[in-house]
Amino acid sequence: MAFRTGGIAIAMAILGVAAAEAEEAASPEALAVEARGIVGRFADKLKGELVGAMKEGGPVAAISVCNTAAPAIASEASTGGWIVRRTSLKLRNPATAPDAWEAETLARFDAAKAGGADPTKLERAEVVESGGQRNFRYMKAIPTAAEPCLACHGTNLAEPVKAKLAELYPDDKATGYSAGDIRGAFTLTKPLP
Ligand code: HEC
Repeated sequence: MAFRTGGIAIAMAILGVAAAEAEEAASPEALAVEARGIVGRFADKLKGELVGAMKEGGPVAAISVCNTAAPAIASEASTGGWIVRRTSLKLRNPATAPDAWEAETLARFDAAKAGGADPTKLERAEVVESGGQRNFRYMKAIPTAAEPCLACHGTNLAEPVKAKLAELYPDDKATGYSAGDIRGAFTLTKPLP
Protein backbone atom coordinates (compact mmCIF):
# COMPACT_ATOMS: atom_id res chain seq x y z
CA MET A 1 0.00 0.00 0.00
CA ALA A 2 2.75 2.39 1.01
CA PHE A 3 4.62 1.43 -2.17
CA ARG A 4 1.57 2.12 -4.35
CA THR A 5 0.99 5.51 -2.79
CA GLY A 6 4.65 6.35 -3.34
CA GLY A 7 4.39 5.27 -6.95
CA ILE A 8 1.43 7.55 -7.53
CA ALA A 9 3.21 10.46 -5.87
CA ILE A 10 6.21 10.01 -8.17
CA ALA A 11 3.99 9.67 -11.23
CA MET A 12 2.21 12.90 -10.28
CA ALA A 13 5.49 14.70 -9.72
CA ILE A 14 6.71 13.68 -13.18
CA LEU A 15 3.43 14.76 -14.76
CA GLY A 16 3.70 18.09 -12.94
CA VAL A 17 7.16 18.72 -14.40
CA ALA A 18 6.00 17.72 -17.89
CA ALA A 19 3.01 20.08 -17.64
CA ALA A 20 5.22 22.99 -16.51
CA GLU A 21 7.62 22.38 -19.40
CA ALA A 22 4.76 22.17 -21.89
CA GLU A 23 3.45 25.49 -20.59
CA GLU A 24 6.79 27.23 -21.00
CA ALA A 25 7.32 25.80 -24.47
CA ALA A 26 3.81 26.52 -25.86
CA SER A 27 4.35 28.59 -28.98
CA PRO A 28 1.91 31.30 -30.12
CA GLU A 29 0.96 28.96 -32.98
CA ALA A 30 0.13 26.12 -30.57
CA LEU A 31 -1.85 28.52 -28.36
CA ALA A 32 -3.81 29.77 -31.38
CA VAL A 33 -4.74 26.17 -32.25
CA GLU A 34 -5.87 25.64 -28.64
CA ALA A 35 -7.86 28.90 -28.72
CA ARG A 36 -9.64 27.93 -31.95
CA GLY A 37 -10.66 24.61 -30.36
CA ILE A 38 -12.06 26.35 -27.27
CA VAL A 39 -14.01 28.85 -29.43
CA GLY A 40 -15.44 26.05 -31.58
CA ARG A 41 -16.72 24.13 -28.56
CA PHE A 42 -18.01 27.30 -26.85
CA ALA A 43 -19.87 28.42 -30.00
CA ASP A 44 -21.43 24.98 -30.57
CA LYS A 45 -22.64 24.71 -26.99
CA LEU A 46 -24.07 28.25 -26.98
CA LYS A 47 -25.83 27.81 -30.31
CA GLY A 48 -27.23 24.43 -29.20
CA GLU A 49 -28.73 25.94 -26.03
CA LEU A 50 -30.06 28.96 -27.92
CA VAL A 51 -31.70 27.03 -30.75
CA GLY A 52 -33.14 24.49 -28.27
CA ALA A 53 -34.63 27.27 -26.12
CA MET A 54 -36.08 29.05 -29.19
CA LYS A 55 -37.78 25.84 -30.34
CA GLU A 56 -39.11 25.06 -26.91
CA GLY A 57 -40.37 28.44 -25.74
CA GLY A 58 -39.84 31.02 -28.48
CA PRO A 59 -37.57 34.08 -28.37
CA VAL A 60 -38.84 35.59 -25.11
CA ALA A 61 -38.05 32.41 -23.17
CA ALA A 62 -34.74 32.13 -25.04
CA ILE A 63 -33.73 35.61 -23.84
CA SER A 64 -33.68 34.32 -20.28
CA VAL A 65 -31.52 31.41 -21.41
CA CYS A 66 -29.04 33.82 -23.08
CA ASN A 67 -29.11 35.98 -19.97
CA THR A 68 -28.02 33.16 -17.65
CA ALA A 69 -26.61 30.43 -19.91
CA ALA A 70 -24.24 32.57 -22.02
CA PRO A 71 -22.15 33.83 -19.07
CA ALA A 72 -22.30 30.35 -17.46
CA ILE A 73 -21.05 28.61 -20.62
CA ALA A 74 -18.29 31.23 -20.94
CA SER A 75 -17.02 30.58 -17.42
CA GLU A 76 -17.30 26.82 -17.97
CA ALA A 77 -15.09 27.22 -21.08
CA SER A 78 -12.56 29.17 -19.01
CA THR A 79 -10.31 26.27 -18.03
CA GLY A 80 -6.59 25.55 -18.29
CA GLY A 81 -5.66 29.18 -17.57
CA TRP A 82 -7.84 30.59 -20.35
CA ILE A 83 -10.33 33.40 -19.80
CA VAL A 84 -13.16 33.11 -22.34
CA ARG A 85 -15.64 35.92 -23.03
CA ARG A 86 -17.73 37.52 -25.75
CA THR A 87 -17.58 41.22 -26.49
CA SER A 88 -18.94 43.78 -28.97
CA LEU A 89 -18.76 47.45 -29.97
CA LYS A 90 -22.56 47.65 -29.54
CA LEU A 91 -23.28 45.93 -26.25
CA ARG A 92 -26.30 44.28 -24.82
CA ASN A 93 -24.66 43.10 -21.58
CA PRO A 94 -22.56 46.05 -20.35
CA ALA A 95 -20.35 43.64 -18.36
CA THR A 96 -18.89 42.36 -21.66
CA ALA A 97 -17.40 45.75 -22.66
CA PRO A 98 -14.19 45.51 -24.71
CA ASP A 99 -10.83 46.77 -23.42
CA ALA A 100 -8.59 48.87 -25.72
CA TRP A 101 -7.02 45.88 -27.54
CA GLU A 102 -10.44 44.27 -28.03
CA ALA A 103 -12.06 47.50 -29.27
CA GLU A 104 -9.23 47.99 -31.77
CA THR A 105 -9.56 44.40 -32.96
CA LEU A 106 -13.34 44.75 -33.40
CA ALA A 107 -12.78 47.94 -35.43
CA ARG A 108 -10.25 46.07 -37.60
CA PHE A 109 -12.75 43.24 -38.15
CA ASP A 110 -15.44 45.74 -39.26
CA ALA A 111 -12.96 47.44 -41.62
CA ALA A 112 -11.87 44.09 -43.08
CA LYS A 113 -15.49 43.05 -43.61
CA ALA A 114 -16.25 46.41 -45.28
CA GLY A 115 -13.26 45.70 -47.53
CA GLY A 116 -14.83 42.42 -48.64
CA ALA A 117 -13.30 39.90 -46.21
CA ASP A 118 -15.34 36.84 -45.21
CA PRO A 119 -16.56 37.64 -41.64
CA THR A 120 -16.55 33.94 -40.68
CA LYS A 121 -12.76 33.86 -41.15
CA LEU A 122 -11.69 36.97 -39.23
CA GLU A 123 -9.41 36.33 -36.27
CA ARG A 124 -6.43 37.91 -34.51
CA ALA A 125 -3.84 36.26 -32.28
CA GLU A 126 -1.08 38.16 -30.51
CA VAL A 127 1.12 38.20 -27.42
CA VAL A 128 0.23 41.44 -25.63
CA GLU A 129 2.09 42.86 -22.65
CA SER A 130 0.29 44.99 -20.09
CA GLY A 131 1.46 46.00 -16.62
CA GLY A 132 4.47 43.67 -16.83
CA GLN A 133 2.28 40.62 -17.60
CA ARG A 134 2.49 38.94 -21.00
CA ASN A 135 -0.80 37.51 -22.24
CA PHE A 136 -1.61 35.46 -25.27
CA ARG A 137 -4.76 37.00 -26.74
CA TYR A 138 -7.08 35.63 -29.39
CA MET A 139 -10.26 37.01 -30.96
CA LYS A 140 -12.62 35.56 -33.54
CA ALA A 141 -15.42 37.56 -35.18
CA ILE A 142 -19.04 36.48 -34.64
CA PRO A 143 -21.12 37.19 -37.76
CA THR A 144 -24.88 37.72 -37.48
CA ALA A 145 -26.99 35.00 -39.11
CA ALA A 146 -30.54 35.73 -40.30
CA GLU A 147 -31.74 32.78 -38.19
CA PRO A 148 -31.88 32.86 -35.21
CA CYS A 149 -29.91 36.04 -34.45
CA LEU A 150 -32.16 38.69 -36.00
CA ALA A 151 -35.12 37.77 -33.76
CA CYS A 152 -33.20 39.46 -30.92
CA HIS A 153 -30.53 41.59 -32.68
CA GLY A 154 -32.34 42.70 -35.86
CA THR A 155 -34.45 45.72 -36.75
CA ASN A 156 -38.07 44.62 -36.45
CA LEU A 157 -38.23 42.89 -33.09
CA ALA A 158 -41.55 41.47 -31.90
CA GLU A 159 -43.14 43.59 -29.14
CA PRO A 160 -42.77 40.96 -26.36
CA VAL A 161 -39.07 40.54 -27.31
CA LYS A 162 -38.54 44.32 -27.13
CA ALA A 163 -40.28 44.47 -23.75
CA LYS A 164 -38.24 41.62 -22.26
CA LEU A 165 -34.95 43.09 -23.54
CA ALA A 166 -35.86 46.54 -22.16
CA GLU A 167 -36.56 44.98 -18.77
CA LEU A 168 -33.26 43.04 -18.59
CA TYR A 169 -30.99 45.43 -20.55
CA PRO A 170 -32.17 49.03 -20.20
CA ASP A 171 -29.03 50.25 -22.07
CA ASP A 172 -29.26 47.69 -24.89
CA LYS A 173 -27.32 48.80 -27.99
CA ALA A 174 -27.34 45.40 -29.72
CA THR A 175 -30.25 45.77 -32.16
CA GLY A 176 -30.45 47.02 -35.75
CA TYR A 177 -28.10 44.38 -37.18
CA SER A 178 -28.50 42.80 -40.62
CA ALA A 179 -27.49 39.30 -41.68
CA GLY A 180 -23.73 39.18 -42.30
CA ASP A 181 -22.89 42.08 -39.95
CA ILE A 182 -20.27 41.37 -37.31
CA ARG A 183 -22.23 41.14 -34.05
CA GLY A 184 -19.12 40.91 -31.87
CA ALA A 185 -16.33 38.48 -31.15
CA PHE A 186 -15.16 35.67 -28.95
CA THR A 187 -12.21 36.89 -26.92
CA LEU A 188 -9.71 34.65 -25.14
CA THR A 189 -6.81 35.55 -22.86
CA LYS A 190 -4.14 33.30 -21.41
CA PRO A 191 -1.52 34.75 -19.05
CA LEU A 192 1.95 33.52 -20.05
CA PRO A 193 4.55 32.34 -17.55
C1 HEC B 1 -33.48 34.91 -27.89
C2 HEC B 1 -32.79 36.14 -28.13
C3 HEC B 1 -31.40 36.09 -28.74
C4 HEC B 1 -31.03 35.49 -29.90
C5 HEC B 1 -31.89 34.69 -30.86
C6 HEC B 1 -29.62 35.81 -30.07
N1 HEC B 1 -29.16 36.55 -29.02
FE1 HEC B 1 -27.28 37.31 -28.82
N2 HEC B 1 -27.79 38.04 -27.00
C7 HEC B 1 -29.02 37.91 -26.42
C8 HEC B 1 -28.95 38.34 -25.04
C9 HEC B 1 -30.10 38.34 -24.03
C10 HEC B 1 -27.61 38.73 -24.82
C11 HEC B 1 -26.97 39.21 -23.54
C12 HEC B 1 -26.39 37.99 -22.81
C13 HEC B 1 -25.72 38.35 -21.51
O1 HEC B 1 -26.41 38.90 -20.63
O2 HEC B 1 -24.53 38.06 -21.38
C14 HEC B 1 -26.91 38.53 -26.08
C15 HEC B 1 -25.57 38.80 -26.26
C16 HEC B 1 -24.87 38.52 -27.39
C17 HEC B 1 -23.45 38.77 -27.56
C18 HEC B 1 -22.47 39.32 -26.51
C19 HEC B 1 -22.21 40.78 -26.61
C20 HEC B 1 -23.30 41.64 -26.03
O3 HEC B 1 -23.80 42.48 -26.78
O4 HEC B 1 -23.64 41.49 -24.84
C21 HEC B 1 -23.13 38.36 -28.83
C22 HEC B 1 -21.77 38.43 -29.47
C23 HEC B 1 -24.35 37.83 -29.41
N3 HEC B 1 -25.39 37.95 -28.53
C24 HEC B 1 -24.42 37.27 -30.67
C25 HEC B 1 -25.53 36.60 -31.16
C26 HEC B 1 -25.54 35.86 -32.41
C27 HEC B 1 -24.38 35.76 -33.38
C28 HEC B 1 -26.77 35.27 -32.52
C29 HEC B 1 -27.26 34.31 -33.59
C30 HEC B 1 -26.50 33.07 -33.69
C31 HEC B 1 -27.55 35.70 -31.35
N4 HEC B 1 -26.75 36.48 -30.54
C32 HEC B 1 -28.86 35.34 -31.13
C33 HEC B 1 -30.18 37.46 -27.02
C34 HEC B 1 -30.22 36.75 -28.19
